Amino acid sequence: MEFNITYKLSYVALICLLFLSPPFVSSQLNYKFYDSSCPNLSKIVQQGVRSAIANDSRIAASLLRLHFHDCFVNQGCDASILLDDSSTLKGEKNALPNKDSARGYEVIDNIKLALEEACPCTVSCTDILTLAAASAVYFSGGPYWPVPLGRRDGLTASIDAANNDMPSPFESLDNIAAKFTAKGLDLKDVVVLSGAHTIGLAQCFTFKTRLFNFSESGKPDPVLDRSLLIKLQRVCPNQADSDTTLSPLDPVTSTKFDNIYFKRLVNKSGLLQSDQLLMGDNRTAPMVISYSRFPNLFNKDFRESMVKMANIGVLTGRTGQIRRNCRVVN
Ligand code: HEM
Ligand SMILES: *[C@@H]1O[C@H](CO)[C@@H](O)[C@H](O)[C@H]1NC(C)=O
Ligand SMILES: *[C@@H]1O[C@H](CO)[C@@H](O)[C@H](O)[C@H]1NC(C)=O
Ligand SMILES: *[C@@H]1O[C@H](CO)[C@@H](O)[C@H](O)[C@H]1NC(C)=O
Ligand SMILES: *[C@@H]1O[C@H](CO)[C@@H](O)[C@H](O)[C@H]1NC(C)=O
Ligand SMILES: *[C@@H]1O[C@H](CO)[C@@H](O)[C@H](O)[C@H]1NC(C)=O
Repeated sequence: MEFNITYKLSYVALICLLFLSPPFVSSQLNYKFYDSSCPNLSKIVQQGVRSAIANDSRIAASLLRLHFHDCFVNQGCDASILLDDSSTLKGEKNALPNKDSARGYEVIDNIKLALEEACPCTVSCTDILTLAAASAVYFSGGPYWPVPLGRRDGLTASIDAANNDMPSPFESLDNIAAKFTAKGLDLKDVVVLSGAHTIGLAQCFTFKTRLFNFSESGKPDPVLDRSLLIKLQRVCPNQADSDTTLSPLDPVTSTKFDNIYFKRLVNKSGLLQSDQLLMGDNRTAPMVISYSRFPNLFNKDFRESMVKMANIGVLTGRTGQIRRNCRVVN
């Protein structure tokens, strides 16, 4: 038994060595990247995401957000968010937008383990995260889209970039849009991708500023629906100990990927200030209204914007590596 395990590990290490300098890797992402090297890839990822959702219905939302936080920080979609702190590396997991908030790391670990069995040293952690996010949307009732593959994992992480480049729910729409523009995305992508808030939960402190003394006015945010305000004040009372209490971003269908998020923005029922701002600007409000009316248009545009986001700063060719363990650089 012991011999078997040792044998297996050294076998894996040997194969990994052979893969260290790829003979030729296309510098473009493509749909068939792993077709011959890991034919069961999508099946294995889907199985991992499906069983994670069966165990925890919120995890689909968490995986989708993890992919967003990977792609917006450091080089781009480089799996930087998955790296743990070490003596030589300060990771992103303890950055403000991630600490006690980003989740789903174990799901990626489990899928990676299964993939190292099926096709050792072949599939990058950032491709796994990209595929997992797409599966999470699909299994939540959202659109399906093929995912271009071939990203490689980065060797670095940046806690400063995680703190500075992630949009905050307290920022103006112009600031949020500027953070998207810096990554090659536009105002339409801001609106469409914010539709991800059709699933998942938020902690009270991320929207409590709207409930009691908005912008030091002594009153709640005037663009928050009155009956929702009263409900939220009950969930998140004006005391610090409610800061981490969770509330659904889209309470009607918080595990279902649909366009009700946009209907709620039209109804002044967005949870985050940054959500509701999309209805308060005449450049974005018309988009919100059309997504609230046309779910198929939202699905189509969401797919397109997700592929765009998943292309941010990808490492291909000889740059980057295929991490063996998503939490550490090889
Ligand atoms: C437009 C700027 C955005 C802001 C300001 C923002 C902000 C937030 C905040 C404050 C939370 C709650 C975190 C917590 O309470 O711990 C959250 C949750 C979430 N965000 Fe965003 N977000 C934005 C865009 C996006 C994008 C582009 C995506 C994905 C495409 C996304 C997906 C999610 C999901 C799915 C959740 C729920 C996560 C869970 O339940 O674990 N967000 N977001
Ligand atoms: C793919 O998975 C099936 C079982 O689901 C297995 O029989 C087959 O050998 C796998 N193919 C490869 C190439 O690993
Ligand atoms: C199930 O979900 C819970 C809550 O997210 C998590 O703590 C636990 O590790 C998960 N168990 C498995 C087997 O994935
Ligand atoms: C709202 O906040 C401001 C600034 O912190 C404070 O001066 C004011 O008294 C507060 N108003 C109420 C009603 O709490
Ligand atoms: C929005 O408001 C309208 C009119 O009050 C109501 O019929 C509808 O159910 C609301 N939609 C949502 C998603 O809350
Ligand atoms: C949008 O609003 C701004 C000010 O709020 C106004 O100056 C501008 O003319 C409006 N644009 C359109 C297209 O309505």
